[in-house]
Amino acid sequence: MTMSVGVKPFEQIPVVELPEDYQMRTGPFLAEMYRQHGPIFRASNFGAEVVYLVGPEANRFMLLSDRLKFSHHIGWGEMFSVSYIFGDGLLSMDGPEHDAHRHLMNPAFAISYMDRYVPLMNRIIRERIATWGERGEVDVYEEARKITFDVAAEALTGLRAGPEVDRFREVFSQMLMLGMMVSSPEEWDTRMAALRAELDGLIRPKIAERRAHPTDDILGLLVTAKDAAGQPLSDERIIAHANILLVAGHETSTSLASWLLYQLTQQPEVTQRVLDEQLALVGPTAEPTLDQIKRMKYLDLVLLEAERVYPPVSNGPRGVVEDFEFAGYHVPAGKYVFYSIAASHLLPAVFAQPEVFDPERFAAPREEHKRTPYGLVGFGGGPRVCIGINFAKVEIKALVSQTLRRYTLEAVPDQTLVQFYRVTAVPLYGIRLRVRERATAALE
Ligand code: HEM
Repeated sequence: MTMSVGVKPFEQIPVVELPEDYQMRTGPFLAEMYRQHGPIFRASNFGAEVVYLVGPEANRFMLLSDRLKFSHHIGWGEMFSVSYIFGDGLLSMDGPEHDAHRHLMNPAFAISYMDRYVPLMNRIIRERIATWGERGEVDVYEEARKITFDVAAEALTGLRAGPEVDRFREVFSQMLMLGMMVSSPEEWDTRMAALRAELDGLIRPKIAERRAHPTDDILGLLVTAKDAAGQPLSDERIIAHANILLVAGHETSTSLASWLLYQLTQQPEVTQRVLDEQLALVGPTAEPTLDQIKRMKYLDLVLLEAERVYPPVSNGPRGVVEDFEFAGYHVPAGKYVFYSIAASHLLPAVFAQPEVFDPERFAAPREEHKRTPYGLVGFGGGPRVCIGINFAKVEIKALVSQTLRRYTLEAVPDQTLVQFYRVTAVPLYGIRLRVRERATAALE
């Protein structure tokens, strides 16, 4: 592509230096760089030069209008090593093959399909939170991880909770944390190879089982699917899909659910409104149905605000496969680009007083997210928006519904709370909450 007249060359894109604590203040730092430099700047990150495209116009450009100039495979797959660690599932595929596989899986993630998952979500949530009261204090991040992983394993792959699922969760967790636990790239390589071998040993027999006896879940759907040439999907592809669904299906929801519960301990009025809505819709002790979950309109607002303030994915990585121009600069093919979720959510031109947790910003008449499309992008956007958005929202709402009606929650004072961004966000030292059983009579 030749450069348009007046467009500046790549070398003139402002350069910024990421601070040492970048991973602890990714959003605020990048929002400040946006304020100083505008919607495009570059920095050295992950050992590579990355161009940041920030703000709603940038998100729309990368997720919708010009999305085919960007590769998920190069971004998620190569730069973030997803292809090596988990194989190429939906997240790191490109082109027509991605679209065909996405088309295959879409129906299992439609909101109407959530009817099948709600009973198992409710059961797992009930069983897992049952012990919180007697324990008196829990790390809600750890607890949410167990719940979301059991739910993903059963709903998506038909694996029932138990020691085997616990081991799966443990292996995924170690894979995701490995970067923080090793002291050299060589150690990372050796330990990751061992974890990959273990994961492969766990999952391969499940594929063989499903091929012999297809089940009524997404794994069952994948083993019986045929590609455009009428061939079944390879074991490698099915394993990669299962891995990505299990990882993406629990890691991000864990983070968002636990920050949401924490935030409720800080906002008594918001919590009371959520509770009132729950009691009006579901009553004091019943488990919520999908229909009731869909009608939890106030909780929807709170969930949107949690997505804005605590986005579990900070940046969407891409490789540039076709030259483009954005905001007056030329970016050639071969570069890495991030659209920044965490920074977009903190721009004052889009979200009034972005530092304030205020669910009402999403209610009429303000509706800040509708006023600026592509301003709120916690689940991405465009044709490749998160496939699990309904799944995650229904699950988190069911969790909040059961937890709030059963317990009162209070944050343990003086704990250090840090949102740390690796590829996804982790509360670095957990989130400890004090839990007390509510007298049911008080709810009636
Ligand atoms: C709070 C929970 C979740 C958040 C915040 C979240 C966030 C995201 C984001 C931001 C993307 C787009 C990434 C990009 O544009 O580069 C994405 C894609 C994806 N998510 Fe989620 N996600 C969540 C839950 C889930 C769940 C529950 C599942 C599966 C059950 C899932 C599966 C996927 C998959 C497969 C993709 C890739 C889709 C494609 O490229 O076609 N996610 N997610």
